[in-house]
Amino acid sequence: MLSISQLTCEYKVNPLGIDAGAAPRISWKLKSDARACMQRAYRIQISATTNFDQPLWDSGQMNSSQSVLVELHGLQLNARSRYYYRVKAWDNAGRESLWTEPAFFQTGLQNPGNWEAEWIAAPEKRLRAGVCPQLRTFFNIDKEIANATIYVTALGLYELQLNDERVGEHYFTPGWSSYANRLQYQTYDVKNYLHMGKNSLGALLGDGWYKGYLGWRNDKEMYGSKRALLLELHIRFTDGSQQHVYSNRDWQAAESPVLMSDIYMGEHYDARLAYNLNDDNRVRWYEVDLIQHSKTILVPQENEPVTKIESIKPIKLWHTPDGELVLDMGQNMVGWLRFEVRGQTGQTVELIHAEVLDSQGNFYRENIRAAQQRIQYTLKGGESEVFEPHFTFQGFRYVQLKNFSGEVSLDDFTGVVLHSSLERTGNFECSEPLINQLHHNILWGQKGNFLDVPTDCPQRDERMGWTGDAQVFVRTASYLMNTAPFFTKWLRDLKADQTPEGGVPFYIPNLKESYSIESNWGETHHSSAAWGDAAVICPWTIYEMYGDKRLLAQQYESMKKWIAYIYDQGDNPYLWNTGFHYGDWLALDSDKEGWEAYYGATDRHYVATAFYAYSTSLVRKAAATLGYAEDADYFQTLYGSIVQAFRKEYVTSDDSLSVPTQTAHVLALQFGLVEGSVKERVIQKLKDLLAEAGDHLKTGFVGTPYLNPVLSTTGNNDLAYRLLFHTDYPSWLYQVTKGATTVWEHWDGIKEDGSFKDGGMASFNHYAYGSIGEWLYRFVAGIGPDEDKPGFKHIHIKPMPGPGLSYVKASLETMYGTTACNWNLTNNGTMELHITIPPNTTGEAILPAAKLEGLLESGRLALKAEGITGIEACDGGVKVLLGSGSYIFSYAL
Ligand code: BGC
Repeated sequence: MLSISQLTCEYKVNPLGIDAGAAPRISWKLKSDARACMQRAYRIQISATTNFDQPLWDSGQMNSSQSVLVELHGLQLNARSRYYYRVKAWDNAGRESLWTEPAFFQTGLQNPGNWEAEWIAAPEKRLRAGVCPQLRTFFNIDKEIANATIYVTALGLYELQLNDERVGEHYFTPGWSSYANRLQYQTYDVKNYLHMGKNSLGALLGDGWYKGYLGWRNDKEMYGSKRALLLELHIRFTDGSQQHVYSNRDWQAAESPVLMSDIYMGEHYDARLAYNLNDDNRVRWYEVDLIQHSKTILVPQENEPVTKIESIKPIKLWHTPDGELVLDMGQNMVGWLRFEVRGQTGQTVELIHAEVLDSQGNFYRENIRAAQQRIQYTLKGGESEVFEPHFTFQGFRYVQLKNFSGEVSLDDFTGVVLHSSLERTGNFECSEPLINQLHHNILWGQKGNFLDVPTDCPQRDERMGWTGDAQVFVRTASYLMNTAPFFTKWLRDLKADQTPEGGVPFYIPNLKESYSIESNWGETHHSSAAWGDAAVICPWTIYEMYGDKRLLAQQYESMKKWIAYIYDQGDNPYLWNTGFHYGDWLALDSDKEGWEAYYGATDRHYVATAFYAYSTSLVRKAAATLGYAEDADYFQTLYGSIVQAFRKEYVTSDDSLSVPTQTAHVLALQFGLVEGSVKERVIQKLKDLLAEAGDHLKTGFVGTPYLNPVLSTTGNNDLAYRLLFHTDYPSWLYQVTKGATTVWEHWDGIKEDGSFKDGGMASFNHYAYGSIGEWLYRFVAGIGPDEDKPGFKHIHIKPMPGPGLSYVKASLETMYGTTACNWNLTNNGTMELHITIPPNTTGEAILPAAKLEGLLESGRLALKAEGITGIEACDGGVKVLLGSGSYIFSYAL
């Protein structure tokens, strides 16, 4: 039987606020028990109603195997309209599916905006400093509603209430973007919040990234000083008539009970001041101000919203040696604490958040720096009260409780985990529990740092979209979760914030200009190698993992500009040997002291030129993919010149690299900058450098992600396993044995003696070194994409077992469905491999150390097994070409 499941439009299930100006893209997954199932044709219908009586658009039967990101060309979309769609398919064995159940997408306001609403703000001089404004309006409904939609955004953050009920499940809206250029608005279906008669509509505004503290210099108002709201409610009645409610001068504003709310600092809420929107007695309402702000920068929400993803219960409540009452969540998490409290009117309880305890077991906050992470709640008094904050999040495992009275119970607290609601796609389990914990820590690093933008860390006064960190982690991230919409939004911000010359600021969204430069290398600069390369590496990775050609096309100019920027630096266009760079950030091989040591020992211009070559090679591939043949030639030639210049500069007369660090050798190999006998020497030298360090790594942000992949692909897979299995410093598992539940910024964030590496710059939730995750999926489990048939249309399965592991179970939910590779080495020397290839894709699997003769698949001669279209001996084992289906190979080693 052939069926279709999981319809999505622009990666989302039934999305609201789709851009009516661009042809939306539909994806679906085929389901079939048969092996080697390929889609032969599809048909899509679009209708204004769910019964499809009179389709608005019909693709007809299209002979195509495309089932991912199919563009709805030629369909004229109106703004503010819901479109239902359904799909059917035919496969290569003549099977025909039924029509799917209808799914829908709904378009947003016309883009750029035809907004009738006006920007409104509370008269700030009427508010006490720091207090969050509450805005309100009223309207009547006297007819039956067919549908009702709100389009809304803010300068700052907003939370909407309709008839005193919180609207929607999104948090930290409208999100963080390049505010001067792009501001997202959200779309909510609000029919069920409305009723006949008088309705109240309110918006609470917070400072957020726009106006609150941001950056490490205790600075505020990075983007603007006025919190403001822009909102339209469109109601359509069953009789066809319409009613609109706009933000305008009819609205009123008052102080809210939120006395302070700030992303870094926390929140103070006074429950005695709580009121509902109808209240005219206890609160003083003022007329709102109309303010001028662009409406042409508005774009519909592009990434998945931040939502409450899960909740966790604390595991311990105790008094530290210093006598402080502290709660242990058992997990370094990001979000906030929901708590229940009983006490006196006017009593203020405090919750202070931290990541770690010091060596004495006391509460430790130095690494949080100026971010206070403090929640204060002033009680109404009487019955028990439950509280959750509004516009702040904390990165924490431990919470100090202050001024709570009476018995405090663990049951009163729940950790609410919030992050962008990306689809979880990767699962990995193996026979070594410490590695499973490492995988868990990597996943939690992503959860904590994918809160609307990819950040470096979620706790101290930073939490910024550092480009280097994003570039380093994007491959791992894209195994663990579907990152396409998340990076689509962020890359558009990158493009918007790129300098006219093509430079890429250190973090995206960029902050004030004074933040965008580094001056500690003589000159001031805004772009660093391996950081700015995010402009190229991220879109290419998304293309490889999801086959998203539109994103590649949209970013192409930005990618080219980055290369042009580098080309223009210094006198030699083929080397990048000028300017400030972060180098192999936080590597362990520097002989310098203090801050200078953080740049690592690898020559920073070596790193810069290596990445210049790599990014140029990727832009060449992008040009070829997009059909820009001339560009592809240009970048091919440029790449050749860079590689030549690199060799002239850094390869010595005895065929060695002049930069004697692990990272220098890793980059030369990973980026293909050396070949032949030089390559052999470089491989040997890398092994020597590792051996000198007792087979331990010394790499920083830049070298670490490629270290194990390079070892596995150069015939040193066992050495890669050895590096992974170390539990002593420096290694990935060192921190795991120290009790880490996320990934640390420093290899020795906590030293053997319990002391900290660095007071001020020691995050315990920094995902850069979690980039080993890609190696776990791509090499240990062996699941990899094919850049010529991206998005896992063709799947490479090449597991690389190594010493210390007896089994691995891994799966990846691709755009086509689940692919999986489980391997199991039994005691009697038998290898059992379970491989799954989803319908409408093909695979090629390398069965490690298998021999062709007599190879069986589920008991049958593999050669004859259904779905296997080719089989041959190859380097390292047997290669089988697979159609879709699940296969079990078992063979003696
Ligand atoms: C951040 C990073 C970032 C780095 C740049 C740090 O403060 O936390 O992870 O990439 O600065 O060197």
